[in-house]
Amino acid sequence: MSWFQSLFSNDIAIDLGTATTLIYIKGRGIVSREPSVVAVQVDARGQRRVLAVGKDAKEMIGRTPQGIEAIRPMQGGVIADFEITEAMLRYFINRANSKRTLVRPRVIVCVPCGITDVEKRAVRESAESASAREVFLIEEPMAAAIGAGLPIAEPAGNMIVDIGGGTTEVAVISLAGIVHSHSLKVGGDRMDQAIVDHLRRKYNLLIGERSAEQIKLRIGNAWGSPGMASMEVKGRDVGAGVPRTVVVGADEIREALAEPLGEIVRAVRGALERTPPELSADIVDKGVVLAGGGALLTGIDQLLREETGLPILIADDPVSSVVKGAGMALDDPDLLRHVAIR
Ligand SMILES: Nc1ncnc2c1ncn2[C@@H]1O[C@H](COP(=O)(O)OP(=O)(O)OP(=O)(O)O)[C@@H](O)[C@H]1O
Ligand SMILES: [Mg+2]
Repeated sequence: MSWFQSLFSNDIAIDLGTATTLIYIKGRGIVSREPSVVAVQVDARGQRRVLAVGKDAKEMIGRTPQGIEAIRPMQGGVIADFEITEAMLRYFINRANSKRTLVRPRVIVCVPCGITDVEKRAVRESAESASAREVFLIEEPMAAAIGAGLPIAEPAGNMIVDIGGGTTEVAVISLAGIVHSHSLKVGGDRMDQAIVDHLRRKYNLLIGERSAEQIKLRIGNAWGSPGMASMEVKGRDVGAGVPRTVVVGADEIREALAEPLGEIVRAVRGALERTPPELSADIVDKGVVLAGGGALLTGIDQLLREETGLPILIADDPVSSVVKGAGMALDDPDLLRHVAIR
């Protein structure tokens, strides 16, 4: 019966991230994983028409002529532009589901810890206006912990650190509840900005956020090791205004990232200080699990290991932990009842 039902199942889980939006459809798994970016054409009356969504739109960031805008509708983990967020979701869902129609689906949306009631209502309403029958909200660190395979329902402490594009969330979970959580507006975007600032200061070179992210992906690191790479970076000279190329090393990028990384380390330490002793003891044994795209920064596990003295593990495929966990909750009504926020 459950196999039969899953054929017609409409249930979906959505991780609406600042950087990446992932969609999971029950019975099918992750059906979409794309940058949260929408390119629009703005006409003389200010009307916006969608030109591209996801990867194609991300390519356009910093490269658009007048009249075209590449918008990131999610900022700091919450919806900053409603209309565009809805258009983006509709696009991803329809494309994933072109042959079938979702008839009034049940929808789980993952939200950052500690978002306001107004923000929660906004998320519900946008899912409902996209024809959801029932909307459940799950806190992202809870979903990430489930997705990373942590035994969240046991009476034992689990610590999860989700380093996303806009935010980092640190949470301690026990008995399917969040015992302590802290969200800071530091993540991959701040790291990219730190790289932009570094190149301007040291080389008088202006680069865009896309290039900064490329540098981070290629040679970004949180912990040095001998023989790390360097790369050529192209940008515009601040003084002369002409294009110029400089060679940038992994060591200086690590130094440029020290400030945002320091804030993440402090947040993890702060959470450990606020954790009740029995749960701390569990975390000492089991370690801390890292999720989110930031967990892929080279050496971030080593940095946290040195700074906390705890075992640090990286979830496998950390970018998908949240949506995977929400998908698992869709498949398990008991679990969903426990972890959904009222
Ligand atoms: N290999 C990598 N090294 C460093 N950073 C990476 C790597 N891969 C992805 N990232 C960064 O991870 C961030 C995106 O992570 P993720 O998709 O988890 O964010 P998000 O869930 O959309 O954001 P949020 O949870 O804050 O709303 C981006 O800043 C991206 O540059
Ligand atoms: Mg996220």
